[in-house]
Amino acid sequence: MRGRSGGGGLIFCGALLLLLLIADVGESSNGDHQPLARIAIHRTLVALNDNAYVKASPSILGLKGQNSEWVTLEYASSNPSNDDWIGVFSPANFSDSTCVPDGTPPDSKIVPPFLCTAPIKYQYANYSTPAYKSTGKGTLRLQLINQRSDFSFVLFSGGLSNMTITWTSGYGINEAEPFVEWGLKGDDHVHSPAGTLTFNRNSMCGAPARTVGWRDPGFIHTAFLKELWPNSLYTYKLGHKLSNGSYIWSQQYQFRASPYPGQDSLQRVVIFGDMGKDEADGSNEYNNFQRGSLNTTKQLVQDLKDIDIVFHIGDLCYANGYLSQWDQFTAQIEPIASTVPYMVASGNHERDWPETGSFYGNLDSGGECGVLAETMFYVPAENRAKFWYSTDYGMFRFCIADTEHDWREGTEQYEFIERCFASADRQKQPWLIFLAHRVLGYSSATWYADQGSFEEPMGRESLQKLWQKYKVDIAIYGHVHNYERTCPIYQNICTNQEKYNYKGALNGTIHVVAGGGGASLAEFTPLNTTWSYFKDHDYGFVKLTAFDHSNLLFEYKKSRDGKVYDSFKISRDYRDILACTVDSCPSTTLAS
Ligand SMILES: *[C@@H]1O[C@H](CO)[C@@H](O)[C@H](O)[C@H]1NC(C)=O
Ligand SMILES: *[C@@H]1O[C@H](CO)[C@@H](O)[C@H](O)[C@H]1NC(C)=O
Ligand SMILES: *[C@@H]1O[C@H](CO)[C@@H](O)[C@H](O)[C@H]1NC(C)=O
Ligand SMILES: *[C@@H]1O[C@H](CO)[C@@H](O)[C@H](O)[C@H]1NC(C)=O
Ligand SMILES: *[C@@H]1O[C@H](CO)[C@@H](O)[C@H](O)[C@H]1NC(C)=O
Ligand SMILES: *[C@@H]1O[C@H](CO)[C@@H](O)[C@H](O)[C@H]1NC(C)=O
Ligand SMILES: *[C@@H]1O[C@H](CO)[C@@H](O)[C@H](O)[C@H]1NC(C)=O
Ligand SMILES: [Fe+2]
Repeated sequence: MRGRSGGGGLIFCGALLLLLLIADVGESSNGDHQPLARIAIHRTLVALNDNAYVKASPSILGLKGQNSEWVTLEYASSNPSNDDWIGVFSPANFSDSTCVPDGTPPDSKIVPPFLCTAPIKYQYANYSTPAYKSTGKGTLRLQLINQRSDFSFVLFSGGLSNMTITWTSGYGINEAEPFVEWGLKGDDHVHSPAGTLTFNRNSMCGAPARTVGWRDPGFIHTAFLKELWPNSLYTYKLGHKLSNGSYIWSQQYQFRASPYPGQDSLQRVVIFGDMGKDEADGSNEYNNFQRGSLNTTKQLVQDLKDIDIVFHIGDLCYANGYLSQWDQFTAQIEPIASTVPYMVASGNHERDWPETGSFYGNLDSGGECGVLAETMFYVPAENRAKFWYSTDYGMFRFCIADTEHDWREGTEQYEFIERCFASADRQKQPWLIFLAHRVLGYSSATWYADQGSFEEPMGRESLQKLWQKYKVDIAIYGHVHNYERTCPIYQNICTNQEKYNYKGALNGTIHVVAGGGGASLAEFTPLNTTWSYFKDHDYGFVKLTAFDHSNLLFEYKKSRDGKVYDSFKISRDYRDILACTVDSCPSTTLAS
């Protein structure tokens, strides 16, 4: 059997004999399912050969409520080949007779499916048993997540005095009422209702999201917790009230409410892009394209007590239309996302699709055209289909752009960006940060350098006057999978010669590429520019620490060891922000 797909580069290897491990989800969205968190793994085989088998142990997952579990597989075939692979499918009722090769653009390399549903993961039968080809026997250990348990993936986002909690479940609105029970730690708790969203195959814009990559997303619930006491510790539990009056509960989580805007206290922000996901078991869908992902996740989890909020600025999981990958990704980030606000930006792999209004008409989203990211990740945008928004965190103001929609002067987004900068009260929110997926500022990535402009085409031409006028301190991007930091810069010219210890006005904006979250690394041009102060071809992330209104520390850490490899400080007072520099004050202020 053979199948191929473009987009994500998922390749099912040609095999005469197909060994299929079938993971059967123990529930559906229909009325009378068993609301126990479990997946039954049946010993199932789809093969040309009667003697082949796959056995799994344990055969039932999540008996102790675990969200993921290591499973040992034993298998045999009387006609073994190095091309044999083990696939994990969910739901189990796929069939190759009902496939619809729908929504495939003419220029796509996606061929009609041979199976209806792509596996969630797969691994070569010879992966841990090199002798498989000669002996016909093998074993394999896979880490399986509890697909569609009662609760999965808690996301915590929001901003100011409201927090937003998002989770997924198998309960539709006719089966149970979703809510969050929450309150100050040790105090009385209240119930806040949650909304329920889902989407169907027709919401996807094309293949593979509409075809082999489609997977029923279950239900996505979002609750808003309001009027929080700044800085206080809260605990919460997710609940579903069933129609017969009984309750289903999640485990208990806790979080700390955001500081009051402008509050003077220690505030720590982590920012990176392009992390993706990877499998701890080495199973190799997408050819391990996001190798650095697990290291980044591990460092963040280890450092969680010293992190207050996280921004993942686009290219979240690279599901590229294979929807099951969102569950794999959210399972990976859940320890982070359920504890600190996990804010996102939209990237090409979330949004881009031809003729759907994205600024770029490529196939990078695999037909998702933004639906997954917009439904699963709450951001305080007016309209989540236009993924730009502002959010405040203590002394920080973040203005988050959506590079998959036009940002140039005269557009709705440009107006938003200006409003976001202009409305920051710099006396209270001195640290003004611009975030976007593609590099609208400066990058020495080969493909940007080759165009001569060291930026996303048309990236900074409109925006640089806003950065300068509103004295944006730092602009951070993903998309280019490496790390780079510039001097404070305006119109290609360094406005400040200092490299590590900035005192007083920057006179320009420092641009940073932090796209080394996990996806395969990008090369730098051999050309050296005057504005590029630090480059690193490795996986890593950025951390901003505001100590008070006058002192900010910027650090770049590698994901492999969590250590700092580049850093700088900004020390200044409010009057330094007010001071005029080139193009930052209207000329009328010079009138006497
Ligand atoms: C698989 O089962 C689900 C739920 O029972 C159903 O909606 C879906 O149509 C089935 N898929 C196929 C390919 O039969
Ligand atoms: C296992 O199979 C893969 C895919 O066919 C092949 O590339 C690899 O060389 C095989 N490994 C061994 C040890 O034979
Ligand atoms: C909090 O939520 C309420 C109700 O949705 C909204 O009116 C208010 O603007 C929100 N506050 C902030 C700071 O986002
Ligand atoms: C309510 O329904 C659920 C699921 O069908 C069942 O497990 C539970 O025992 C029922 N509770 C009562 C009080 O009948
Ligand atoms: C650019 O700078 C790097 C690091 O200092 C150096 O290794 C490299 O040779 C320089 N390239 C050119 C073309 O000067
Ligand atoms: C992950 O970190 C380990 C050390 O902790 C390192 O050996 C490994 O190379 C890292 N992986 C990647 C892809 O950078
Ligand atoms: C910033 O600009 C002002 C006004 O042009 C100038 O006086 C000051 O020296 C500049 N600061 C630095 C660090 O270059
Ligand atoms: Fe990207």
